[in-house]
Amino acid sequence: MLYNKNMLNYYFTETDDGSTGLYSKTAGDILHSKEGALKEAFEKFINPANKILKSNSNLRILDLCSGVGYNLKALLTKMKNKCAQIDCVDINWDFILLSPFIIDNINDINMKLFLLSGFSFIDNFVDRINTLISNLEESGFKKFLCPSMTDLIKFLFREGYKDSGRTLKLSFLHNIYYKYISTSMKYSLNSNEYSNIEINYKLGDARTIIKNLHNPYDLVFHDGFAPQKDPTLWTFDFLSLLKNNLHYDSLITTYSKSSPFRSALCNLNFFVGKTFSNGLEIGTIASLNHDNIICPLSDRDLKLLETKSGICYKDPFLNLPSSEILRNRELEQKNSNRQSRTSFSKLYSH
Ligand SMILES: C[S@@+](CC[C@H](N)C(=O)[O-])C[C@H]1O[C@@H](n2cnc3c(N)ncnc32)[C@H](O)[C@@H]1O
Repeated sequence: MLYNKNMLNYYFTETDDGSTGLYSKTAGDILHSKEGALKEAFEKFINPANKILKSNSNLRILDLCSGVGYNLKALLTKMKNKCAQIDCVDINWDFILLSPFIIDNINDINMKLFLLSGFSFIDNFVDRINTLISNLEESGFKKFLCPSMTDLIKFLFREGYKDSGRTLKLSFLHNIYYKYISTSMKYSLNSNEYSNIEINYKLGDARTIIKNLHNPYDLVFHDGFAPQKDPTLWTFDFLSLLKNNLHYDSLITTYSKSSPFRSALCNLNFFVGKTFSNGLEIGTIASLNHDNIICPLSDRDLKLLETKSGICYKDPFLNLPSSEILRNRELEQKNSNRQSRTSFSKLYSH
């Protein structure tokens, strides 16, 4: 497992809604929208799933590529006094550990996330987070960290806090926070609005993890890196395994509007729709139940998927590097008799 050194590959930036965004130097990609990391989470992942989130049943939710947890934090705001099991999958431990420490715009959500996350399965988690935070502070990123949460970790580090089992630990941390750290006592010590929420972390390549999932999810947030840069989680083959973990009424929400991704969903018999914010198309929603899709792809969108641009990414054994998946698709496009996207767009504009 990589801790700390991994973070050297990232920049922190303030996004337009005041929440913190990250840029990956290795992936050459932003992890969050410049217009607002938190705004993006609500608009592209949470709001399109409102119908499911309003239900009172016990929900199973997959936060695929959970990163520093914006989709999870935004989700939690809708889950007060509800019942849910949330599985978070990411390949980067540092992000998961940092998620309750990054400045966002949601009052007190970091503490709640920290308590819910538990991190009880990680050896010496206080030492690890403390080192991670100290390194970020030394690298000039202090302003992106939530002061009350970093105080808590420093306090626990100084006191030599040792893990003593999930239940004991949660109440212990909770008390520590409100007794010594929090400047406001307005939040009840016995607050139990999230007592029926369970968060599990699954660390690793989602392509491996997906093979070992068994119970269907009601809702999946798909927030992988941009498909045209890292297609590994947007291939027909990965989505096919994801489909095995869904039921008729499940929803997938994502920011991606990519043709090969949408085309793979259609080939897998999903009904595919578009999501909007302020009249602008911002993402995709998919379900096996037609009734769950409010704005289905138009005729033009569907015809576009029949062109070269709708040729799917493929990764039959779920083990190819991004570069090879991209290269194979380019080759398939080159050898295909399908219309090019450019000629399709010209024809369609007349
Ligand atoms: C666009 S970011 C997600 C942002 C995240 N939802 C958040 O709120 O911070 C993409 C994430 O995908 C993760 N990732 C990339 N490839 C992965 C893979 N093969 N398996 C699991 N996670 C992966 C990265 O570590 C990164 O956190």
